Amino acid sequence: MLQLVDNLARLGTETAFEVLARAADLERRGKSIVNLGIGQPDFRTPQHIVEAAIKALRDGHHGYTPAQGILPLREAVAKDLARRHGVEVDPDTIVIMPGGKPTMFFAVLMFGRPGAEILYPDPGFPIYRSMIQYTGAKPVPIALKEENQFAFTADQVLSQITPKTSLVILNSPNNPCGGAVPAEEVKRLVAGLARHPNVAVMSDEIYSQMLYGGRKHESFLRYPEIRDRLILLDGWSKTYAMTGWRLGFSVWPKALVEPIVRLCVNCHSCVNAPTQYAGIAALEGPQDEAARMVAAFDERRRVIVPLLNQLPGFTCLDPGGAFYVFPNVTGTGIGARELQNRMLEQSGVATVAGTSFGIHGEGYIRFSYANSVDNIREAIRRIAALLRD
Ligand SMILES: Cc1ncc(COP(=O)(O)O)c(C=O)c1O
Repeated sequence: MLQLVDNLARLGTETAFEVLARAADLERRGKSIVNLGIGQPDFRTPQHIVEAAIKALRDGHHGYTPAQGILPLREAVAKDLARRHGVEVDPDTIVIMPGGKPTMFFAVLMFGRPGAEILYPDPGFPIYRSMIQYTGAKPVPIALKEENQFAFTADQVLSQITPKTSLVILNSPNNPCGGAVPAEEVKRLVAGLARHPNVAVMSDEIYSQMLYGGRKHESFLRYPEIRDRLILLDGWSKTYAMTGWRLGFSVWPKALVEPIVRLCVNCHSCVNAPTQYAGIAALEGPQDEAARMVAAFDERRRVIVPLLNQLPGFTCLDPGGAFYVFPNVTGTGIGARELQNRMLEQSGVATVAGTSFGIHGEGYIRFSYANSVDNIREAIRRIAALLRD
C-alpha cells in the first residue's frame, strides 16, 4: 500500500479544466460545442513573438538560464512596469516564472502553515484556496459581492485580518467575476495595512491590461510603504495570448528574493530559454495586437451582457475587466452546478458554475467571452431555447 502524505488530500483543483475535458469528449462524439468555459484568449500569439522564440533556438539559446530569469528579460519587465504603473522596480527583485500560477504556489508555500490564516477572494481563482489548504493554513474567504460590483473593499479586508493572518491574496481585475477594484479602495487598504506590519500581500494583477469603460488599473506596486511585503503576480498569458508558453513574472520584496529563487532552483531550475526571449519580444515589440485583443474583448463584452440580461432568470452586471461575466442565475430556480451541466449536456454550451470558485459563487455562472461574437450569439440562443423548454 502506497503511503501518500495527508496534505495531498486537501489539495484542490481547477474545475475549468474538467469542463474543458468534458466538452472535448462531447465534441469527439459529434456534439456541437460552444466553449465559453475556458479562461484563455482565443487569439494566436502575435507572430513577432513566435519568431523571437524560433530565432532564440536557432541562435543556440537552448540551455539552462539563471533561475531568476535572464537579465535582459527582467530589465524589459522593469521597463514595462515603469511604463504601465509609473514605478521604478529593481530588475534584481523580479523573478521570471513558468506562468502566473507558480507565483501563487510559492507565495502560499512561504506563508502557509498550520495556525496561520490566509485571506483570499471568494469567488476567486480556485488555486488560492487549494494551496492554502495544502499548507495546513486556515483559508479565510473575502466575499466578493455583487452589490460591490464584485470588488473587495478595504474595510472588508481589514476587518478580517487577525494576529494569525500571514498573507492576504488579492486579485483585480478578477477571475471569475470581472470585478475591478477602484483606486480609492486600494489606497484605503494600503493605509489600513500600516496597522498590520506583519501581514504580507500577494496581488494577482494578471488581468491588469484588460479594463473597460475608461477604468484605470491601480497597482499595489505604486505604494512604496508596502513594497517590503508585497508580492506582485503578473505575466504574459492573458495579455499576449501566451497561456501555453508558460511564462510569468513576479516582483518580490528584497528580503524574499533569495528564498524565492531557492524555491525555483528546487522546483523548475529556470523557464525554458526560447520562451524568455519571446517574452522580451512581447514587451519590447509592437503593442498593437495586444491592444486589438482587448478591443475585441470589449466589443464582445458589450454583446454578451445585454444578451444575458434578456435570458429569463438571469441578471448580469457590466464587468470592469478581464474577459469574464458572472451573471446571477438565481431567478432560474436552478442551482449553478445543475445549470452548468444542463447547458453543457443539453445545449452544448460550456461554462463554469460559480461554485467552482468558492461557496460565494452559488447562484452564479462564469461565462468567458474569449470567443467570437457569432459563437457568443449562438450560445445565448441555445441557452434561451433550453430555458424555454
Ligand atoms: C486570476 C488568475 N491568476 C493567475 C492565473 C494563472 O495564469 P497562468 O496561466 O499564467 O499560470 C489565472 C489563469 O486563469 C488567473 O485567472
